[in-house]
Amino acid sequence: MQQLICHQTGESYPLDSPIWRSESGGILDIEFDGAFDPMEILTRPPGLWRYHEALPISNPEDRITLGEVLTPIVRLVDGKHTIETKLDYLFPSGSYKDRGATLLMSQARALGIESVVQDSSGNAGAAIATYAAVAGIECEIFVPDSTSPAKLDQMRACGATLTLVPGSREDTANAAFLAAKDRYYASHVWNPFFLQGTKTFAFEIAEQRGWILPDTLVLPAGNGTLLLGAWIGFVELKQMGIVNKIPKLIGVQAANCAPLVEAWRRSSAEPISIATSSTVAEGIAIAEPRRGAQMILAVKQSGGHMIEVEEEEIIDSLRWLCARGLFVEPTSAAVMAGARQYVSTAPADEEVLTVLTGHGLKAASKIQSLVSKK
Ligand SMILES: Cc1ncc(COP(=O)(O)O)c(C=O)c1O
Repeated sequence: MQQLICHQTGESYPLDSPIWRSESGGILDIEFDGAFDPMEILTRPPGLWRYHEALPISNPEDRITLGEVLTPIVRLVDGKHTIETKLDYLFPSGSYKDRGATLLMSQARALGIESVVQDSSGNAGAAIATYAAVAGIECEIFVPDSTSPAKLDQMRACGATLTLVPGSREDTANAAFLAAKDRYYASHVWNPFFLQGTKTFAFEIAEQRGWILPDTLVLPAGNGTLLLGAWIGFVELKQMGIVNKIPKLIGVQAANCAPLVEAWRRSSAEPISIATSSTVAEGIAIAEPRRGAQMILAVKQSGGHMIEVEEEEIIDSLRWLCARGLFVEPTSAAVMAGARQYVSTAPADEEVLTVLTGHGLKAASKIQSLVSKK
C-alpha cells in the first residue's frame, strides 16, 4: 500500500498527488510499506539512500542528492554515564534537516514542481534552499527577522528568495502558509515526505549498532521533524522484523517555550497554549507545533516522556560540548542538556543515544558570546 492519508479524516490520495495537505485542510501522513534487506544494503555506498527500497521515491533519476554521509556516533562521558551522540550536524547544509530535504525535493522533482515555498527558523530553510539549488527548483523561504545572519546568508547564497517576517515563529509560519495556497509547500512540518527522509536517522542508528537499538533516545522536540521521523523509522524496522523493540523517546524543549512539556504535565493529548519567552535554542522555540499531538502520542507509545531545560543548562552544555571539540548550535546544546539531565537519574547501564543537529558555524558569534559569558 502506498498513499497519502489525511491525519484528521482518513481521506486517501495517490502518493504522486502534487498536494501538501488534504482537501479538508488536514495534515497528511504517508502509508508506505517498503522494506530493505539489511545484508543487501551493505554492498551500497554509505548514506541514507542505501535504504532506498524503504523510501517512497521509486525512480533513481528523481533523486536530488549531495552524497549525504553516514553521520558518525561518538561516545561522550558525563560522570558515570556514556552518552552515544550522533553527529547529524555534518550534513551538506550543516544540519540534519538535509535528511528530509533530500527526500522532499526528490519528490518535488518527480512531480515536475518548478517553484516551492517554505518557512523555517533557519536550518530547514537552508536545507530546502540547498537541495532546491541541486534540483534547479525556484524557492522562496519565509524566516523570522531574528534568524541568525549566517543562515540567511547561506539561503541567499544558494539562490533562495527570502522574506523576513517580523514577530514570532508562528507569524512566519502563517505568512508562508498563505503564500503556499497556490504553490508547493516544501514544509518540514506539513509535507509528509520530509519525515520519510528523517526516518533514516532510525535506520542508521540501527545499522551502526549492529541492528541492536539503544534503550533510550533523547531528541529535540520543536516541530518534531526528527522525533516523528525517528518514530516512523523504528516502527518500520520493527515491521520489517529487523528489530524487536523500539527505544524510549525523550523529547527535549526549552523551558522558555515548552507547550509539549506542559501538555505532558497535564496529561493532555494536545499541546497546551502557553506564555513563552525567548530562548537561545531558536530551533525548538515552537509555541504551537502543528504535529504536536502526533509527537505526544509517539513519545507516549514509546514509553518515554517530555523534559525541559533551563537557559543556564543549555549554556553550560554548550560550553561542555565546545570543550570536547563539538562546535554546535545552541539548539543542539539544549538537546545535550536534556540528555545530561536525563542520564543524571538513569541507571548507569541504560543505553542512551542523542544527536547534535546543527553546525556551530551557523551561529559562531552567538556561541562565542554565550560560552565566554561568566
Ligand atoms: C539545529 C536544530 N535542532 C533541532 C531542531 C528541532 O526541530 P524538530 O523538532 O522539528 O526536529 C531544529 C529546528 O529547526 C534545528 O534547527
